[in-house]
Order: sequence, then structure tokens, then C-alpha cells
Amino acid sequence: MDRSNPHLQTFQERGFPHADYPTGWFQVGWSDAFARGQVVAETYFGQDLVLYRTDPDDANAAGRIVALDAYCPHMGAHLAYGGSVEGDCLRCPYHGWSWDDAGRNAEIPYGERGSVNASTRSWPVREVSGIVFLWHAADGSAPSWDPPRMPEADAADFYRPYPWATHREPMHMHPQFAAENFPDLAHMRYVHRWAEIPEISLWQEDGPVLQVDYDGLVTTPKGPVRVATANTAYGVGLNVNRVLHGLRSTTLGAFTPIDQTRSEGFITVWVAKRDKDSTEPDGLARGIAAANTRELFGPDADRRVWEHQRYREHPLAVGYEARYTRAFRTWTRQFYPEPALISTGSS
Ligand code: FES
Ligand SMILES: [Fe+2]
Repeated sequence: MDRSNPHLQTFQERGFPHADYPTGWFQVGWSDAFARGQVVAETYFGQDLVLYRTDPDDANAAGRIVALDAYCPHMGAHLAYGGSVEGDCLRCPYHGWSWDDAGRNAEIPYGERGSVNASTRSWPVREVSGIVFLWHAADGSAPSWDPPRMPEADAADFYRPYPWATHREPMHMHPQFAAENFPDLAHMRYVHRWAEIPEISLWQEDGPVLQVDYDGLVTTPKGPVRVATANTAYGVGLNVNRVLHGLRSTTLGAFTPIDQTRSEGFITVWVAKRDKDSTEPDGLARGIAAANTRELFGPDADRRVWEHQRYREHPLAVGYEARYTRAFRTWTRQFYPEPALISTGSS
């Protein structure tokens, strides 16, 4: 394997000191993408998973989304390839054994046993504000905080973003790269073409939630415009950016580890309506969603840096940057409960 290609290197080969994936809520999709009875194969946190929406008419299941380890405990069939939803259960395509939303064997459709005391792992899933979140904890512990609720999702003066203002794509990067980008002020000038390096007006840590507000001059075709943004990180996988001036928009950037080389990137943009009665996004709203998506996924924006970046455990940092970088990494340590695996020094 060509190890000089950073796309083939693991996070640790790129200098990241933690072997375990971070703890927290991570996006795995959008509610509207899961039709009734839909069964999909996904890989996150190095695990092959099956996600399905239970029967909305079933009194117990109520249309919840369930995530299970993908391989049937019986003979190892992948439950997403041919599995079918019945109530809150998923029936294996190979021999028809049925598994409930907690991953327990619910039925063996032949023989005398009825069922066995066996299970496949069930992962905590929550649907909030049209986003599907999966909880990961390296030690298997239950969720200790809630995924974010987006007021824009329920507000009549914002367009519903799915599908036109959403995008997903795998990237060769650890979510920490995107997380650290979020309070990175200088890069706003050099990557996002702000006219000046913005200034932080608020830094507020509250357990797994970090609020960082900043404002500055943004270059536009009509000249520089002052923009104020409010930014909230929920763990290392979820970043919310709110533009508060002019036409308001709120962007959720989410990065979910796939394996030790890639993360799935998700973007969702809620754009305010100029006309409250409008139901279809106008050209300006579409333009804002496309521009925000380009800033994350475009070939000449953050992505170009992240996909080729080395993690500097001891970055060179000057002035205020040193203070914020240190504060940010101290805050993110809570999402990596195991001790750092390796010390990479400053090389
Ligand atoms: S492999 Fe799933 S029922 Fe046999
Ligand atoms: Fe950025």
C-alpha cells in the first residue's frame, strides 16, 4: 500500500493520538431519508451497521429508527441486504430469524425453541429536528447528554432543508480536524475570504456544549459586510453556525467517523424566508445553501486542508491563538476518555 498517500493513512499515522473514536452524538442521516420500512447498510466507528425505521403503525415501535450491528448472530448474514421490517423487528433474509429494536432475538420461525437468548448490539439513536443522531461511547456507556434541538426546524420563517439544502459525502479526515476549525479565527480570513480575522465576543463552555461567537468583515461582491455569527459545538462531531445579520441562515456541519481513515461529512442549512408565506426556496435561499455547502465540501475550502492535514499535538500558536487552541483541546478531552495512546511530539 502506498503510505505516502495521506488518503490511505490512518488517523494515528497522521498524528492523531487517540485510538478510540470520540464519545458523543453523531449525525447518521436525515429523518426524511428514512421511509417507512426502509433498511440501510452503513459503516460508522469501524462497525458495519443496519439502520431501519420501525413500523409507524405498530403501537410499540411508533416508527422509530433503530441501529443494530449488521451481522446476524445466527449465521452472519448482513441484515441490511434483504432484511425486512415487521413491527419493531428486523427479519433476517437468510433463515428468517427476527431481531427486535433492542437487538434481542425475538423469534426463530422453525424448530421448538421459539427464540434464543442472543442479541446483536443496538446503538442509541435519536431523531431531533429532522436529524438522525447515533450515540457512540468507546466504553459502551449510555448517552450522558442530549443531541441538539434546532429551533429553526420548527420555525415557520425558515425553509425545511431536506433534501435541497443538505449534502453528505465521505472525507479523509478525523472529526477533530473539523471541530478545531470551528473556533479557528485566522482561517476565516485565509480559507473563507473574510476581509479581516474575526474577533471572539463570547467563549462559553457548558459540559459537552461550547459556544463561540465572533464577528468580522466578510468580502462580498458588493463590498465588505459586517457579519456576526453564533457557533455551537456539541461534542467533536456536531458544529452549528448561525449567521445573525442580513438573511439569517443556520448550518449544521456534522462529521461521523466511518473507520480509522475517513469520516462521513453532513451539512444541513436552514435558510430564513424573505417572504413568510413562501413554501419553496427561492434563488437566494438556494444560493446561500449552495455557498455554505461549498465552504465545507468545495475543493478549495476547508476540505482541501483537512484531507491532507497532519494533526499537530503541539501546534505552533501565537498570541490569542495559543489561548484558544489550548482551551479548545482542553474542552475536547472529555470526548476521549481513554489516555492518549501515543505521544507524537511536535513532528
Ligand atoms: S443468518 Fe440470519 S437467520 Fe440465519
Ligand atoms: Fe472553516
